Amino acid sequence: MASCPVPSVSSVVAGARQVYRESFGASEPVVAVCAPGRVNLIGEHTDYNQGFVLPMALPLVTVMVGSPTPDRSVSIVTVAEGADEPRRVDFVLPNDSATPIAPGMPKWANYVKGVLQHYRAGPLPGFQAVLASSVPLGGGLSSSASLEVAVYTFLQQLCPDDGDAVSKALACQKAEHTHAGMPCGIMDQFISVLGKDGHALLIDCRSLEATLVPLTDQGLVILITNSNVRHSLTGSEYPSRRQQCEEAAATLGKSSLREATLEDLEGAQGQLDKETYRRARHVIEEIGRTERAAAALREGRYHEFGELMVDSHNSLRDHYEVSCPELDELVAAATEVEGVYGSRMTGGGFGGCTVTLLEAAAVDRAVQHIKERYSGTPTFYITIPSDGARALSL
Ligand code: GLA
Repeated sequence: MASCPVPSVSSVVAGARQVYRESFGASEPVVAVCAPGRVNLIGEHTDYNQGFVLPMALPLVTVMVGSPTPDRSVSIVTVAEGADEPRRVDFVLPNDSATPIAPGMPKWANYVKGVLQHYRAGPLPGFQAVLASSVPLGGGLSSSASLEVAVYTFLQQLCPDDGDAVSKALACQKAEHTHAGMPCGIMDQFISVLGKDGHALLIDCRSLEATLVPLTDQGLVILITNSNVRHSLTGSEYPSRRQQCEEAAATLGKSSLREATLEDLEGAQGQLDKETYRRARHVIEEIGRTERAAAALREGRYHEFGELMVDSHNSLRDHYEVSCPELDELVAAATEVEGVYGSRMTGGGFGGCTVTLLEAAAVDRAVQHIKERYSGTPTFYITIPSDGARALSL
């Protein structure tokens, strides 16, 4: 099939082990873990509004291999493509948990430091480790969350916590807030921890309960297309969207947009500026769409699911304004192909990937058509819903 092959987890582990031997005096790591990236099928920019999301964990993973050290020293090497320099960091864990582990440079190490800071058990031993990843960095497939969750899972092997999965996801989210400065919602960390082979997860981001939605139909394919562009707006646009949603909810007298209906919004239209109104409208409609889409998927109504995906994309483009010409081009191209049910941007936006639901028989023709129509150079992944973070045997 004309797509980008997904490297096996064992091949990523083998690469990391090799670098471990080279970096740490020919010794072997004793622990190996992996945590997946994700693709969100629908429910975009709804998680921090307490709404529903429908992601699935990917076979693309971040791997961490390593061993505890007898002191409090930490040495980590990354071989993840695109990580900033230097690729090795060494530091000593503070003696008391009240002393913060401050973020700094390189950026990739801040995710590790954030997780060390918010880990839910201790005292932690020192360790030496290697990080490797098959999740494209900055591609909108949650490379950051998979890194955080891999680090947390690694620490669980050295110093077990109570094993509560939701608290684990929340600790990783906190790491991203405090150490990467990104006020993300809970979706990415949640699915990276709790993803399940053969299933998407309908996550209620208010109650933090999740329902499994089976996704094993052999006649169906989930195709990810990486636009291979990332617009630099991302940094400021995400927090400002979040703020607009909070303002809209406050104007409607609601604790979040999850509590608001379209009628509430129409009633308050005069009190909201046009842009904030459109933002809120996207969120309220997208929450409803996600619930309907999960039901459609469960019942095999793929055409309906596909239409909801396209509605979601159009709303993200026109109301939430987080798409970009490259993503719009990819969605337009995909939806021209016979056998494609639907397509949309996935993740935060401003570049990154689209997700397309299509008949298995249409994959080659879709890949070909998208390649021809897209003005850039796309990368494709044919993916299956995979398991969440786990320890691996060495
Ligand atoms: C990023 C964030 C998520 C979510 C999506 C948009 O991936 O990390 O929490 O808000 O954007 O749906």
